[in-house]
Amino acid sequence: MKIICHGGAGHTPKVQDGVDKAAEEGWKILKETDNPTLAATAATIVMEDDFRFNAGTGSCLREDGRVQTDAAVATSDGRMSSITNLENFKNPVLIARELLDEFVTMLAGEGAVQFALEKGFKKTKVKGSEKGWTGDTVGAVAISSTGKIAVASSTGGVRGRPVGRVGDTPLWGSGFYCDKEIGILATGVGEAITKQLMCYRAYQHSNNLEKALEWGIRLLPKDTGVGMIAIRSDGQIYGTSNTSMPFKIIKD
Ligand code: GLY
Repeated sequence: MKIICHGGAGHTPKVQDGVDKAAEEGWKILKETDNPTLAATAATIVMEDDFRFNAGTGSCLREDGRVQTDAAVATSDGRMSSITNLENFKNPVLIARELLDEFVTMLAGEGAVQFALEKGFKKTKVKGSEKGWTGDTVGAVAISSTGKIAVASSTGGVRGRPVGRVGDTPLWGSGFYCDKEIGILATGVGEAITKQLMCYRAYQHSNNLEKALEWGIRLLPKDTGVGMIAIRSDGQIYGTSNTSMPFKIIKD
């Protein structure tokens, strides 16, 4: 069993305690359930509920001052889901997780809201934060004792971007990817990550996780903040960034 969490490429070790708390919560759930999906989402919720992070309650503001969030979940048994441009739900990652078992894989805006309400999620005013850097995201990757992997990711996007803008976080292969061999997440400037199809290409680059992620980071210019975390089914676990991205690994 292993879990790795990050608090965003735009963040600093000042929020390391929040990332540690998220990893500890995810680890607790992993120990109790051996379910990596529950563990990765539990860790992500801790950061969505911590106003210092650009996700859930602390999401940054769009150009017109409103908050629109994105989230994604994927599992090594072939399921994936994401929601984008969701307004007024405090834990978007739970709505993405709910979508995992549906035929539809991605919902945006009004459709995501409708789905959330149908599934019993309650609307809550999410005011967001005027702080928030370019491209913060929070997320976690977990692996069970039997080698099942899951990834979960959530973001308020990038401060000042237009309403309706879609970053990398909800995009398969760009901000997240998971299959039997790997669970991988990106954080950073969504437009740059998307253009590089970063998660999938990094995964394809090498079986050596450290080499793969370091290569992935170098796809972007040094001054474009980006980070990645991942776990491979053979037990490799790694996180890296060209910023001071806080992250935490817990393993037995
Ligand atoms: N990486 C978060 C975003 O660009 O939306």
